[in-house]
Amino acid sequence: MTQSSSNLWGGRFSSSPEASMFALSRSVHFDWRLAPYDLRSSLAHVEVLESQKIIPSDVAAKIRMALKELQQEVKSGSFGPNESDEDVHSALERGLKEKLGDIGGAIRAGRSRNDQVATDFRLYLIDQMIDIASSLILLEKAITELATNYVDDVAPGFTHLQHAQPVSFGHELAKHAHAVARDVSRIADWLKRSNFSPLGAGALSGSSLPLQPEKTAENLGFSGVVANSIDAVMDRDFAAEALFIIALVGVHISRIGEEWTLWSSTEFGWAKLDDAFSTGSSIMPQKKNPDAAEIARGKSGRFIGNLTGLLTTMKGLAFAYNRDLQEDKEPVFDSVENLLLLLPAVSGMIATTTFDRAKMKAAAPLGFSLATEIADFLVKAGVPFSQAHEAAGACVKVCEGKGIELHQLTDSDLSSIHPQLTGDVRKYLDAMGAISARTSINGTSPASVRKQITELDKQIKEDSSWIADERNRFSGMMSQ
Ligand code: ARG
Repeated sequence: MTQSSSNLWGGRFSSSPEASMFALSRSVHFDWRLAPYDLRSSLAHVEVLESQKIIPSDVAAKIRMALKELQQEVKSGSFGPNESDEDVHSALERGLKEKLGDIGGAIRAGRSRNDQVATDFRLYLIDQMIDIASSLILLEKAITELATNYVDDVAPGFTHLQHAQPVSFGHELAKHAHAVARDVSRIADWLKRSNFSPLGAGALSGSSLPLQPEKTAENLGFSGVVANSIDAVMDRDFAAEALFIIALVGVHISRIGEEWTLWSSTEFGWAKLDDAFSTGSSIMPQKKNPDAAEIARGKSGRFIGNLTGLLTTMKGLAFAYNRDLQEDKEPVFDSVENLLLLLPAVSGMIATTTFDRAKMKAAAPLGFSLATEIADFLVKAGVPFSQAHEAAGACVKVCEGKGIELHQLTDSDLSSIHPQLTGDVRKYLDAMGAISARTSINGTSPASVRKQITELDKQIKEDSSWIADERNRFSGMMSQ
C-alpha cells in the first residue's frame, strides 16, 4: 500500500505507511458513522473562517456548497469512503477536494483532527442519547401500563428468591419503571455536562487565528466551549458516562429479562409470552422460549464490557491527544446500536405479556408469607416486637410439624404459643388483607401503588417534553 491519496499529513515524510501500518491506523470502516456530524461541524467552521476573514467569501461559498452536496451524497450513499481513506475526516476532505481542487483544503485552517473528532463524537452521542431517552420512555410506558393492569392482583413477594411477603403484582412490575425513570434523568444530567464544544482547541493549545469558538459552539447547538483546550482534545468523560448510563440500563433490563424468564418457566407458570416475542426449538416441538428476555439479560455483559474497555483505554493517558483515543469509538457504537436494537423488543415483549392472576393469588400465602402479620397483630396488642417475632416463628414451626398453613392453626395452638394470640389473628392471615394494610406512601397497598404510578406518569410526561425539545433542537441544527 502506498501513501493514501487522502492522507492529511504527507509533507515531512519520505515514505508512505507500510501496508500493515496503514491497516492498523485506519478507522474509516467504523468512524464513517461520524460523517454527518463532521460535515455539520465543518459548515460551522467555514462560517467562522469567513466571518473572521480567514478565508475569502467566494472560497467560503464554494466550500459551503460542496459540503452541502456531500451531506446529500453521504445520506444517499453515493459518496462513501474508499480503500485509501484513513478516517472519516480524510475521506470527507478528499470529497471536498474532488469537487473543488486545492481550495477544498482551505477548511483545515485553525482546526485539527484532534478537536474535530472530539466534536463529531460529542455530536454523534448527543443525537444517539436523545434517541435512547425516547426509547426508554416507551419502555417506561409499556411497564406502567402493564403494572396498572395488575395493581389489584396479589402475588408472592420475594427476598432471597423465597416467598417473603405478599405484594400487589402491579407494585412488583412498576419497580422496573422507576429504575428506567432514573436512567432517563441520568441522560438529562449527562446532556447538561456533555453539551460543550471542543472546537477551537486545535491540536491542543488553541489557535492563533481569530476563530470565535463561542460562536461555532452556539451554531452547533452546544451550550458553551470546553474551557481548557488541552482537556478539550483528550476528554472522553462524555463517552465513558454515556457507556455507564447504557451499562446501567443494561443491568436494569437484565433484571427484567431474568424475571420474565423465571415467570414464564414451567415451575412458575405465571407469565404467558406472546408468540411474536418468543421463539421455538429446532428439535423440541413443544418449546416456546423467552429469547427476547434472555437476550435482554445477555446484552448487559457486552455493555459492561464496553464501559470497562473504554475506561481502561482512558486510564493513565498523559498530556493531550494520544492515538489510543481512536479506540474510544467502537465500544460506544456497539453499545448505542445494541441498546437501540434491544429497547423496542423488550418494550414489545412487556406490552404483550399476560399473567395468570389466579395462580399468583393462590401462591401468595404459601411459604408462610403471612407470618409477619402474626407478629404485627401481637405488636398492636402491646407485645414487644422481639417477643412477637419469636411467637410468629413458633407458629411456623408448629405448622411445619403438622403439615398445615398458618390460617389452619387452632385457637388452642395459638394460645399455647402466646397468651395474647387469639383466633382474631386469622382475619389478618389473608394475602389481599395484608397488602391492603400496607398503605405507606411507597407501600404495596393497591391505593398506594396507584398513587406511585400516577406520579410516574407525570414524570413520563415531563421527560417526554424535554426529550422532544432536545430532539427538535438537535435535528433543527443538523438540517441547517
Ligand atoms: N481517527 C482519529 C481518532 O479517531 C482522528 C484523530 C487523529 N489525530 C491524530 N493526531 N492522528 O482519534
